[in-house]
Amino acid sequence: MHLKPSLVDICGPIEDGLDKVQDTLFEILTTENPLSGEVIQYFFSNKGKYLRPALCLFGASFGSAHAVTGTALRVAAAFEAFHCATLIHDDIVDQSYLRRNMPTVNAKWGPQVAVLVGDYLHDRALQVFFGTKNDLVIDLFLKTASEVCDGEILEFREKNNYGLNEGIYLNIIQKKTASLLAACIEAGAVLGGLPTEKVQALSNYGKALGMAFQVVDDCLDFMGEAHEFGKTLGADYMGGVLTLPLIRLLSGLTGKKRQEVEALFGPDGNPAEKLTILKTMITESGALEYSLAKARSYTEEARTELLKLEVSDSRKSLEQLLDFIVERSR
Ligand code: IPE
Ligand code: IPE
Ligand code: MG
Ligand code: MG
Repeated sequence: MHLKPSLVDICGPIEDGLDKVQDTLFEILTTENPLSGEVIQYFFSNKGKYLRPALCLFGASFGSAHAVTGTALRVAAAFEAFHCATLIHDDIVDQSYLRRNMPTVNAKWGPQVAVLVGDYLHDRALQVFFGTKNDLVIDLFLKTASEVCDGEILEFREKNNYGLNEGIYLNIIQKKTASLLAACIEAGAVLGGLPTEKVQALSNYGKALGMAFQVVDDCLDFMGEAHEFGKTLGADYMGGVLTLPLIRLLSGLTGKKRQEVEALFGPDGNPAEKLTILKTMITESGALEYSLAKARSYTEEARTELLKLEVSDSRKSLEQLLDFIVERSR
């Protein structure tokens, strides 16, 4: 039997750098303030997938050998710090109570602490970016941070819009998620000293991978297994956030059938039962299959970009990462 590579296997070529990310993160986030210290220890006790630092280190790995340490390592950790700031803030906005299988910062300490600690993480990340003294990297970070925020605001504005179309949804996820994944690998590539065309190819790869990543995440919100996913299932639709599986389902419905589905968004009824009904409809209507095919089309776009780079262990890993993203359960 041919076993699929795990994320750890895939990250083999950057293993040494990735192993140092956690220590670097804690060093960057050092504080004498006992409350922020406690929240930081808590939040980072359960590592995520480290996708953003991994992409940054992969970007750097295409350049000179030692680019994977030093500045690129600090920037990789700063991207993770920024990502975690967005998660802590996002969990306030989405009123989510579970993240990485643990109560969210918002649930444990309340929104005031969550806002402030999220800001602290963001500002520390910013300090690292300015410390690179690399204008391209600083500019890229600033541009991306505002784009992510813009995506979150757009999503908020479209809440409970049952007529949301696929184009607007794709624009939202490009901003809130894909822009950051693209920036991580692009910054790594810049720090690795790659020529412009290769930096661009990697950035395009990151963006397409990011689109696939978020579409799959939105499918997992309906179809995932709660413990593995580490977040509350059905959270998007319960919060009025329409994602691709639902947008596709609704686009094929009219009249009474559509009203029945829209009624599921209301406060009445048992959430678990409503989720089961939606899951069945999303599967039987082909909306799930459609969404996963869309994710696959983005990974194929990303795969094409990789052809612009020489064959290497890192390139092979980035190819494998595309399959991991679509097949993941967490
Ligand atoms: C969660 O990102 C936010 C989304 C863009 C869907 P990840 O799934 O990468 O989160 P962690 O860092 O692994 O927990
Ligand atoms: C992910 O938002 C993007 C950001 C945090 C900026 P989501 O709300 O879709 O992600 P999860 O499901 O909470 O991880
Ligand atoms: Mg959100
Ligand atoms: Mg959320």
